[in-house]
Amino acid sequence: MYISQVIDKIKNYHYGIRNEQLIDDAISKDQVLYGDITKECTGIVIAVWPSIEVINQAIAKGANLIISHEALFWNRGDHTGWLEQSNNKTFQQKKELLDKYQITVWRDHDYIHSGIPIDDHYVDGIFWKFAKVIGWDQYVIGDTSKYREFLIPETTVSEVARNIMTIGGLKGSKIIGEPNTKVRKVIIPSHNLGDAKAIITKVDKENFDLVLAMELIDFTLSEYVLDSNMLSQNKTILTVGHFNLEKIGMKVMENVVKQIVKNTDLDCSFIDSSDMYNYVMNNE
Ligand SMILES: [Fe+2]
Ligand SMILES: [Fe+2]
Repeated sequence: MYISQVIDKIKNYHYGIRNEQLIDDAISKDQVLYGDITKECTGIVIAVWPSIEVINQAIAKGANLIISHEALFWNRGDHTGWLEQSNNKTFQQKKELLDKYQITVWRDHDYIHSGIPIDDHYVDGIFWKFAKVIGWDQYVIGDTSKYREFLIPETTVSEVARNIMTIGGLKGSKIIGEPNTKVRKVIIPSHNLGDAKAIITKVDKENFDLVLAMELIDFTLSEYVLDSNMLSQNKTILTVGHFNLEKIGMKVMENVVKQIVKNTDLDCSFIDSSDMYNYVMNNE
């Protein structure tokens, strides 16, 4: 099977409509980030992001197609002109590795978030799988195709942290607010990159107890949640990091792709990217 055929079959499996708009292949994030798609596929590796570790594992397995949820060269749109102009050394080495072993990288971002078929409707593949793995799928509220809001049995934020670290094989997590704060209503917001007025308003108005954040910055949402917690409101933030959270959901694609290539001898495996964080604790 050609690499282009594998990619087309995966696209067809997904819903293809995101935020009420048909995904436009000309402008979506889901581009061939590297390599050639007209050659025979020798094996497939799936990962949340195509790190050096993931590329090396693909090489070891003899796979020439990496399906990745995130970008290859560290920027939205995977632009490389700026890296070529500045002769970025890491870029050059990563590129040499991909060239040497003829690896193709295709990004499955907009498509997987647009939906995978579950029962009789489409749901966000990443967050549905995350909810399923942590056991929250039965507690989904809000837009039930997105799996971003939950009303869970009462627990503490530190207990949620422990669960996520266990299912993700993670070394640590970060909590804002008292770790023993009781939580029931959970939201996984979109990227928290700068202005947070919308999410602060939503958390306040709809009384969310726990924000399960991907990126986190100090001067907006974190400050608000900490003030709220200090005023004895049940408000906390837990983060394990963006890729550490989404990798749990990306595993959903392993079975999907296995089905797609089931009549071939292609090997397909999910690579559980290592926790990108190391921690040094002050009491060590
Ligand atoms: Fe992401
Ligand atoms: Fe994502």
